[in-house]
Amino acid sequence: MNEVSPIASSKHVAFDAERLRRDFPALHQDVHGKPLVYLDSAATSLKPQSVIDAVDEVYAKDCANIHRAVHLLSQRATVRYEEAREKVRTFLNAARNTEVVFTRGTTEAINLVAQSWGRSSLREGDEILVTELEHHSNIVPWQMLCQQTGAKLVVVPMTDRGEILREHFEQKLSERTRLVAMAHVSNALGTLLPVPELIALAHERGALVLLDGAQAVSHVDVDVRALDCDFYAFSGHKLYGPTGIGVLYGKERLLDGMPPYQGGGDMIRSVTFEETIYNELPYKFEAGTPNIAGAIGLGAAIDYVLSFDAGLVHAHENAVLRYANEALGAIAGLRLVGTAPGKVAALSFLMDSAHPHDIGTIVDSEGVAIRTGHHCAQPVMEHFGIAATARASLGMYNTTEDIDALVSALQKVQELFG
Ligand SMILES: Cc1ncc(COP(=O)(O)O)c(C=O)c1O
Repeated sequence: MNEVSPIASSKHVAFDAERLRRDFPALHQDVHGKPLVYLDSAATSLKPQSVIDAVDEVYAKDCANIHRAVHLLSQRATVRYEEAREKVRTFLNAARNTEVVFTRGTTEAINLVAQSWGRSSLREGDEILVTELEHHSNIVPWQMLCQQTGAKLVVVPMTDRGEILREHFEQKLSERTRLVAMAHVSNALGTLLPVPELIALAHERGALVLLDGAQAVSHVDVDVRALDCDFYAFSGHKLYGPTGIGVLYGKERLLDGMPPYQGGGDMIRSVTFEETIYNELPYKFEAGTPNIAGAIGLGAAIDYVLSFDAGLVHAHENAVLRYANEALGAIAGLRLVGTAPGKVAALSFLMDSAHPHDIGTIVDSEGVAIRTGHHCAQPVMEHFGIAATARASLGMYNTTEDIDALVSALQKVQELFG
């Protein structure tokens, strides 16, 4: 059960995981004849009814293109889209709305920085620092950029617990490091990186820092000004919002100096065959019709998340994670992969008796949804000399009863394969 007492503060609704579960319609279904237990929020989180309603309402009522027409529907859609940008700004504590660019997701946000800032700024021999625990989305765009510019990708190794240590990071920083691109939280292992001190070190060497916040935004407080990161990328669908929408935060002076990423409508002020003058920030980076409903849905997701006291939500998730660590740790023949202190919301594991894919299939037949595979982090798998893990990951709606259901499903796996 929820181990954290549901205390209400004046501006927040009380946090009560049991009650909150009613807000998520997808939780209330049977799969394979069993009640669904959803432990795959690191892949995508479920959506509360308020987000589903917000998206629905765009198509039912405010279905128009933005920034273009004088008619009322277009004006309403434009206002709601820009209100969503303001909600993102508040959520990240960015200084200005001009620093919030809507993208398709984390992947597109990182590619935008690589192709716009990177291609225009990097020279042969410059270095981009990543860590060994990155998602492919924070590796491949930099490899592509290295091929285009002659820059070099440098990798900070992780420990066998899945940590990134300050001394290893410092060893890999050099005079040629122009950018550090690192996860705020690892998707495969749940490691929370010590980003404040790593950002300070990078800045001392004159390097910029991009944080991949895909796994962090729903589990830790993010304040881009306190962190002083230069870029921050995240996806709406991992923050209880719709798919196909995400955000690139960038410091205004950096975004200002960067060339557009894509050309098209909305990113221009004027076009002739001789010359095009680009639009101001953030529109310079939002070519074409954006995901209007997605942005508005993301705004609704942020409203939902901010309606709770973040401290209580994180304490609840951490309590469920501790419970899961103990419960899974007590299963004979089960090994946790990634045991960094202070990790958040995800448990990767292996079982002696069964391959991760078999684990995933058996627990699915018991109604429990987990993820199996390399989690788009093949270098992490390589570090541990494995091809895949099973991963259970948490959202704000998970309770210790979900972990009990996972444990019984894993006992089934042992019965069948043990
Ligand atoms: C750490 C991390 N970075 C980047 C991504 C890519 O996110 P998206 O596919 O939403 O662009 C993910 C998705 O799982 C992730 O976990």
